[in-house]
Amino acid sequence: MNKTWYKEGIVYQIYPRSFKDSNQDGVGDLRGIIEKLDYLKDLGISIVWLSPIYESPLDDNGYDISDYCKILPEYGTMDDFIELVNGLHERGIALIMDLVVNHTSDEHPWFVESKKSVDNPYRDYYIWKEGTEGKAPNKWGSFFGGPAWEYDETTNQYYLHLFSKKQPDLNWDNPNVREEVKKILTFWLDLGVDGFRCDVINIISKREGLPEGKWKPVLRGSEHYINGPKVHEYLHELYEDVLSKYNCFTVGESVFITPEIALDYIADWKEELSMLFQFDHMNADCFFVKWFGRKFKPVRLKKAMTKWQYGINEKGWNTLYFENHDQPRSVSRFGSLKYREQSAKMLATYLLFQKGTPFIYQGQEIGMTNAHFTKLSQYRDVESLNIYRIGTKKLLWSKRRMLKKLARSSRDHARTPMQWSNEINGGFSEATPWIEANTNYETINVKNDLKNKNSILKYYQKIIALRKKHEIIVYGEFIEHYPNDNKIVCYERNYEDEKLVVVANFTGKEVFQKAPYDLAKAKLLLNNYDDDDRILKPYQAKVYLFKK
Ligand code: NOJ
Repeated sequence: MNKTWYKEGIVYQIYPRSFKDSNQDGVGDLRGIIEKLDYLKDLGISIVWLSPIYESPLDDNGYDISDYCKILPEYGTMDDFIELVNGLHERGIALIMDLVVNHTSDEHPWFVESKKSVDNPYRDYYIWKEGTEGKAPNKWGSFFGGPAWEYDETTNQYYLHLFSKKQPDLNWDNPNVREEVKKILTFWLDLGVDGFRCDVINIISKREGLPEGKWKPVLRGSEHYINGPKVHEYLHELYEDVLSKYNCFTVGESVFITPEIALDYIADWKEELSMLFQFDHMNADCFFVKWFGRKFKPVRLKKAMTKWQYGINEKGWNTLYFENHDQPRSVSRFGSLKYREQSAKMLATYLLFQKGTPFIYQGQEIGMTNAHFTKLSQYRDVESLNIYRIGTKKLLWSKRRMLKKLARSSRDHARTPMQWSNEINGGFSEATPWIEANTNYETINVKNDLKNKNSILKYYQKIIALRKKHEIIVYGEFIEHYPNDNKIVCYERNYEDEKLVVVANFTGKEVFQKAPYDLAKAKLLLNNYDDDDRILKPYQAKVYLFKK
């Protein structure tokens, strides 16, 4: 196994719109991030992933880009960006950018041109097709609900959009498109960035002819583009022509993938991507699609996590995450609001001692919770608003039922302003924020956590410092114990002459501590309670280190 800096790194994801507003317009910005550089350094993280900051009409909060090489004025200027990169690098922190190239905004000049006529030089930058008998070319569905085709009257054809209709899919089969993507990569790498998080990268290659999809309740047609026919060829081309020339790494977001297929992208000997995000464990509290919730079961989460630990193992490299800008807050999903502090720390322990590069999402380190929105007008997310509309208008579900679904699964839970203090709007901004702050900022905030030596934030700092100190946490072999136990977690890591054992209680009740070894012979490295006996307190988590 090759050892590299990004395997040893700990990533912190910043969603710029909601992180810190420096100029009091209610929107987070680059100078806001610059104000918090020392906070990031003190947390101990070594890589920042910045969600999109490019020019965009913000239909999907920047995942709809209209100029890949310009900064959205609301977020700042190119000078601010350079200052941010330098400020991070001076503190030993690398920066990765979001690369969103499955689609652009419909306001991108390429699409504006593409729309004009069938023989426009940019026509083939996108995926256009004739309709059949006045209907869309096929019944493919969009990730945000509804059809994946939009009719355009200028040329009497339809264009494909696997996300919102303001996000037309690029045609990767066109070599000019791939050259444009290489230019974008080079532009940012030359400015000093250290890598990319590649948005929905395993769906960029669509099957020739765009055949009809088999019937499915959601995402009809997806068998024709998930891990599509030329995806490996195209990713290798980017690697060969650009990425391999820089000391950078890539993490690809991949949907509906198995560890076996993931290895086709990320095995150590592949020259495509460095690691992948997958979603298996995000189904621990829902049926496949988040809008169909089911009760959370720890054993489901464990099975999904372990499947990837074993499936990737020595052949490639995993990512470890519970939260990002698309997921509700983990403490609300997998932990307990009654035992918020204990369960947030337990989740951190369970996750961050596994093998892979950890990704921590802003606010996770203080145990931020889901927003308690009760009205549709409080939501901002294009996906949530679409689903609400489809639910109430097409399926004729009640408004109450749809609001309940949003209250459980909306992406906006992750997007409420970062809670810095108990000042107005959690210290995020003095102006009305673009999305309401969670009312619990009076108690849950960074300032409080910095004062309290037992806070969740201090606990994250501790784990991060341990990961940096003990190579076993990064490179040790992973073995799980009691995989079918729905109450406790137990796994070990082995490396050279050391063994590390993690035991944790995934419930709000006391449970007997099972362990495969005599833990009295080990050093207790970490504990989220003061007591250390054979009874695990609610959400207690402990880590032991053995010298063999
Ligand atoms: C995945 C991103 O994480 C999400 O926020 C976005 O809406 C879609 N891809 C489309 O870009």
